[in-house]
Amino acid sequence: MAPRCWRWWHWSTWRRTRPPLPGSTPSFRQRFSTQEQPPQICVVGSGPAGFYTAQHLLKHHPQAHVDIYEKQLVPFGLVRFGVAPDHPEVKNVINTFTQTARSARCAFRGNVVVGRDVAVPELRAAYHAVVLSYGAEDHRALEIPGEELPGVFSARAFVGWYNGLPENRELAPDLSCDTAVILGQGNVALDVARILLTPPEHLEKTDITEAALGVLRQSRVKTVWIVGRRGPLQVAFTIKELREMIQLPGTRPILDPADFLGLQDRIKDVPRPRKRLTELLLRTATEKPGTEDAARQAPASRAWGLRFFRSPQQVLPSPDGRRAAGIRLAVTRLEGVGEAARAVPTGDTEDLPCGLVLSSVGYKSRPIDPSVPFDPKLGVIPNMEGRVVDVPGLYCSGWVKRGPTGVIATTMTDSFLTGQMLLQDLKAGLLPPGPRPGYAAIEALLSSRGVQPVSFSDWEKLDAEEVSRGKGAGKPREKLLDPQEMLGLLGR
Ligand SMILES: Cc1cc2nc3c(=O)[nH]c(=O)nc-3n(C[C@H](O)[C@H](O)[C@H](O)COP(=O)(O)OP(=O)(O)OC[C@H]3O[C@@H](n4cnc5c(N)ncnc54)[C@H](O)[C@@H]3O)c2cc1C
Ligand SMILES: NC(=O)c1ccc[n+]([C@@H]2O[C@H](COP(=O)([O-])OP(=O)(O)OC[C@H]3O[C@@H](n4cnc5c(N)ncnc54)[C@H](OP(=O)(O)O)[C@@H]3O)[C@@H](O)[C@H]2O)c1
Repeated sequence: MAPRCWRWWHWSTWRRTRPPLPGSTPSFRQRFSTQEQPPQICVVGSGPAGFYTAQHLLKHHPQAHVDIYEKQLVPFGLVRFGVAPDHPEVKNVINTFTQTARSARCAFRGNVVVGRDVAVPELRAAYHAVVLSYGAEDHRALEIPGEELPGVFSARAFVGWYNGLPENRELAPDLSCDTAVILGQGNVALDVARILLTPPEHLEKTDITEAALGVLRQSRVKTVWIVGRRGPLQVAFTIKELREMIQLPGTRPILDPADFLGLQDRIKDVPRPRKRLTELLLRTATEKPGTEDAARQAPASRAWGLRFFRSPQQVLPSPDGRRAAGIRLAVTRLEGVGEAARAVPTGDTEDLPCGLVLSSVGYKSRPIDPSVPFDPKLGVIPNMEGRVVDVPGLYCSGWVKRGPTGVIATTMTDSFLTGQMLLQDLKAGLLPPGPRPGYAAIEALLSSRGVQPVSFSDWEKLDAEEVSRGKGAGKPREKLLDPQEMLGLLGR
């Protein structure tokens, strides 16, 4: 649908459904503009999408007020609970988010689960516009037999565990096995493989939780297989992350040169980033390591390998049926070429013994409220450049808008675009007219429901506590894991 039609639809819907207006016939602009009152906007989710949307709105509208609702007691979404602890530079975006949160026209409302503590229609009644930026909190299930066995974890839960996500703090994965298998070949799979294989002393100065570090110190995992259903030309990870794996201290790569036969000719025409990535894979698989790499790999006691053309079919139980003891993989071949090639089973299978299976086949958004359209197949809120289809005044940004792929920079671009669309609609008089109570109305509702929101200055107190707890061990912070303890520290 072209933006023109969409606007017309928006306008005509409002014209039909608006409450009667007092006084004589005001102009279109007077009727539908909220310019007399600073626009009250609410954003749901305080990850990169929420913060970048808020940043855009505050920067480009000098009066707009933005409330950011967040279910956790702490802000920043996957920047805190997803980004690997050994990638501290990525977390520098927190400085920009903090500046946004400290703006006099922005407020963080943590500890509020939208869809449970407050409904989206209630937010829509209180604000001129609502932006849903609540990410993709679930993992995609493999839907194979044995997935529920102890010893099988989603990468999402494993990442949440080492990064201090409260709901995963009890995960305690058993790392007493020799071999782990990671299903999926994206950047999350490489994060998980790297954390499993990095010598624990190299993680001691990061913000990994002390509990996770303790388990990793006891780990007996020696080999990690990273399994893809397609081939080397279709891996989803990127070159920087692959290079880190190749250079990981105390480990050596295992790649089968047979997987790379004929690839040299085929990479000539692929886009440059894919070409460079495949060349690195090819060199690692087929050439002798250089002096430096050889010296590092010679004494290596741990290994990681990429296994291609294998699709998970069944998690195999131990003889007593109590836990995972291996994985049955369907051997595949490709139909089609390039990025779009599809993996189809050949009919052969291969069993790979292992004591730990980590499924890293992607994240998934959930529907938030029955009043909000949701596409269960794509796992996104149907939208046109961030405008939620058929719901005037409702917008979305980030992973819930475009699906669970893309780095923080991609999320920034799409969140700015959503902010731009919202401001265009505001200027065009397409948002609800008249004053809106904003947080005052929601605060009363939350209080009547016994919900205790936390503010950004509350977070700054928790932040100071975490930094102070980390100091003794030379860590940037020791994350607080227990919401009750956090509330206690805030005197609640
Ligand atoms: C494991 C992992 C590692 C990554 N590492 C990198 C990296 O190194 N570099 C990089 O550039 N990108 C990385 N990414 C990608 C990056 O994290 C995403 O692009 C980005 O976080 C998406 O932003 P978002 O705001 O849409 O979602 P999120 O970051 O998930 O934020 C969503 C927020 O909404 C909140 N929320 C959810 N439901 C509700 C509700 N009902 N009510 C209120 N609040 C709610 C959540 O608690 C969360 O705070 C990584 C992703 C993952 C999964
Ligand atoms: N350092 C970083 O910058 C960093 C770190 C972590 C995450 N991220 C970003 O976060 C996003 C999410 O990462 P992700 O790794 O979760 O997702 P991803 O990049 O989409 O990778 C998912 C992987 O799972 C595979 N897969 C999906 N369904 C499968 C199935 N049913 N059976 C077998 N394999 C299946 C995919 O293979 P197919 O291709 O065959 O579908 C792919 O290899 C990505 O954009 C990533 O770049 C970035």
